[in-house]
Amino acid sequence: MVFQRSTAKRRTVAFFGATISVITLAALSYTRIHNQTHLGNLCDHLAARSTPLEAESESTNDVPFTKVISHAAGFTVLENAYWKNDTWYFVSEQPWSFPDLASVVTQGPWHGSTPYTDARVVRLITLDEATAMGIQDHSELKGSTLFFNDRISVPPVYHVVGEMFLGAWRAWQSATWFTSKPNPDIARLAFAHVDDDTFTDHAGMNHYYLERFFPAAELEFVESWEARAKTGKYYRLPKVVIADRKSGHRGPKTRGKPMDDAFALPVHGDWVAPLRQAIVGGYTGAPMPDKGLPVITYLSRQSTHMRKMTQASHENLEAELKKLEQDGIAEFNTVEFSDKDPKDYQAAVLARTTILVGVHGNGLTHLMWMVPNKLSAVYELQQKGSRVDDYSILSEAMNMKHWIVNVDTMCERRDCGPRGLDPSVQIGSNEYTVDAAYLAQAIRTRLAA
Ligand SMILES: *[C@@H]1O[C@H](CO)[C@@H](O)[C@H](O)[C@H]1NC(C)=O
Repeated sequence: MVFQRSTAKRRTVAFFGATISVITLAALSYTRIHNQTHLGNLCDHLAARSTPLEAESESTNDVPFTKVISHAAGFTVLENAYWKNDTWYFVSEQPWSFPDLASVVTQGPWHGSTPYTDARVVRLITLDEATAMGIQDHSELKGSTLFFNDRISVPPVYHVVGEMFLGAWRAWQSATWFTSKPNPDIARLAFAHVDDDTFTDHAGMNHYYLERFFPAAELEFVESWEARAKTGKYYRLPKVVIADRKSGHRGPKTRGKPMDDAFALPVHGDWVAPLRQAIVGGYTGAPMPDKGLPVITYLSRQSTHMRKMTQASHENLEAELKKLEQDGIAEFNTVEFSDKDPKDYQAAVLARTTILVGVHGNGLTHLMWMVPNKLSAVYELQQKGSRVDDYSILSEAMNMKHWIVNVDTMCERRDCGPRGLDPSVQIGSNEYTVDAAYLAQAIRTRLAA
């Protein structure tokens, strides 16, 4: 269902020929059900649904200045940014109020290409220059936009939601910190350089999350932006977050992740709460017991065909963690999600988790549903010589502790040494092990604190 809805939604904003074929298709399926009686109404309805293009076409003679509201490398919140045929135009008499444009946006390179930022990508221009270029004759893309510039690394869900979306969301949340004003709703999520198929992961997580977060927003893909490019018009985005992976990697604080700098932007309180609420808030599935104890969740990968524990280590880990439950210190559950499990159920399980234990992998993106408190922590199982910190940065950005557990030692991100893998490590191995007694003792100590 989710897919069908999103596809229909997307096509209402895909222009020209595509709109006609969708009208035809929708009309056909509609008449099958309603036996043609309401076809006239349907056409009116579809005409109304295709208003985004018309709403854009409102011309104005004004050139509101571009302003930077919040910025970290790769994630920039702007007012009145202009866009034409894949080039951004920032209009200002105060060039010093802009960051280095290379840390705002790049050409969005393909794999293996060197990122660059030149006048084809973005230009900072004066009002006189803008007027000489005819920018006063522009269309407004009404509402607020999250604009994702990447061509690569979509999916899986960690790269879309965990990295680029959460970076954009952090920057967006920081805007309210800087302006002291509430943010308007997001009107559109623009994945301007990828198509829907590329964006869609096998479990449909990217669609599910983003559509739940912003039920009223349009999800737009490359066809929509190519159609805009072909008009040769200027578009004004009254509020936009430009998210650019390669610019993010240029940040002064980066330790290897594109959103490292964005996650240092100031925000009010639990900045992930609105997203968690959107997924878990309306949860009506199987009831979740509350035993009034901290909840330890071991997120198993034993049914997958790669990157899992030896069976002995898996069973030993369960046995050791079970002892914490027997001692009345915590509730303990092993969970293993499959694509068939309702996604809000998966999030709800994590939302009641205090301590998360799991082997390195995309499933750990779920940690974003945990409700941080002073005991919250993530213990990520890796091999000796492995220091992969994708989930450390997410945990820490949510104010939770995170340890990389290398069998019988553990470290926090800043103490683990440079991100990466020793040559001996095979990340896809099915021979992960852990000193379960050592890990259980560490959790016991934490819960006693
Ligand atoms: C958009 O830019 C491309 C590449 O520079 C160019 O070939 C094309 O003609 C431009 N389209 C319009 C409508 O200006």
